[in-house]
Amino acid sequence: MASTRKKSLGKINYLLRFYVDGQGIQYQSYCPAVNFVAIGLARVALSNQEKDVFGGLKKYSGTFYLVAALIVGGSSLFFSAVLSAADEMANPASVTHQMWRKIRLGELKIEGDHDAVKALVLQGNIPITYDYIATLMRTPNAFGNGPACIVCHSSNDPSRSYRGLDLSSCEGILRGSTEAPARPVISPGKPMDSRLVHKLRNNRMPLGVSFLHPTDTESIQKVKKWIDSGAADDEFFKTSVLPLFAEPTAFGSEIACVSCHAGFRDPPNFNEVNLSSHEAIMTGAFSRTNKKLDRPGIPIVIPHEAEKSRLYQRLTENRMPPGINPGEESDHPNTSLLMRWIEQGAWCK
Ligand code: HEC
Ligand code: HEC
Repeated sequence: MASTRKKSLGKINYLLRFYVDGQGIQYQSYCPAVNFVAIGLARVALSNQEKDVFGGLKKYSGTFYLVAALIVGGSSLFFSAVLSAADEMANPASVTHQMWRKIRLGELKIEGDHDAVKALVLQGNIPITYDYIATLMRTPNAFGNGPACIVCHSSNDPSRSYRGLDLSSCEGILRGSTEAPARPVISPGKPMDSRLVHKLRNNRMPLGVSFLHPTDTESIQKVKKWIDSGAADDEFFKTSVLPLFAEPTAFGSEIACVSCHAGFRDPPNFNEVNLSSHEAIMTGAFSRTNKKLDRPGIPIVIPHEAEKSRLYQRLTENRMPPGINPGEESDHPNTSLLMRWIEQGAWCK
């Protein structure tokens, strides 16, 4: 049996293992703090058997073990906190380290191509460099089938480049379109307010309308005039605007807006957009879904501001690259990466 005269840590470890084994519990620990606590608790809980096992250790009372446990446990907690803080300073959170940690915790799953971008880049909050954005602008099919952006947008000279928009340099992207109406295409920090993102994600309406259908027709002008003059539920709206949404050919296709947008349920009404009355239009998109989250619908009409109103934007802004199939997903991984670059401040370096 264990010698009770030697009081080295090794012996205490051995005693502890023996003692707990005696109760039929498989337990052993080489951490002195844990052992002190366990021995202390064992002495208090099993005070009868204790004498047999510990024999000569009787002079040490249970209190001694508890106090020792507090001292050893407390100081080892303190030192481990100091050590881990020092470690943090020496190795600022490595993303690889965090990735393995998350994988162990089951917080990270990578099953398809898109998941790698979501899990490792977006979730891992990897900074997106302009280098990557430059590559995207030069690559065919980068955001869905079609030619590279810089084929048509490579200079601020409107005689050489559509909208005088130069997507071939970082300064060019930040400058935006230089042809009248000159306007920025990104708002750094706000991807959802950026025209560049709208143009990559949003299909022009009615869904499937030809790229070549003009964007300043009489019908579109009426919608613009109505929004710019306050979007009231007035005579002009009732007689000249509302009926357009129910008329199949009003906006250059064979199918009326209300065929796809006549109620607040999606399906069958895409994005829960309802264009069948003034009240319904002002309720906005996704009102049903947002209501469950205690939020209002997303406005599609901003009175006095047609240019900022989704309803008008969707009538006039062709999705890029021109002719792209509306079925192409709007959450393409490269679109998500571009959005993240804008969100992180659209830094050129
Ligand atoms: C084949 C030529 C062509 C290609 C390729 C092309 N665009 Fe365009 N782009 C146009 C034309 C034409 C317009 C103007 C008409 C319009 O807005 O519908 C335009 C307009 C834009 C605008 C709107 C600028 C403004 O002031 O409103 C943005 C943003 C844009 N394109 C981004 C892109 C991006 C990003 C790509 C690459 C995915 C791309 N374009 C690819 C021809 C092209
Ligand atoms: C064939 C069905 C179809 C028709 C017709 C149609 N839409 Fe849509 N609409 C959709 C789909 C699908 C979406 C969502 C996909 C997307 O965002 O491109 C959508 C989205 C919208 C949105 C965006 C809502 C948001 O979330 O911000 C607006 C606004 C809109 N449509 C207006 C119209 C107008 C105005 C017309 C008529 C000129 C029209 N739609 C005709 C299918 C249709």
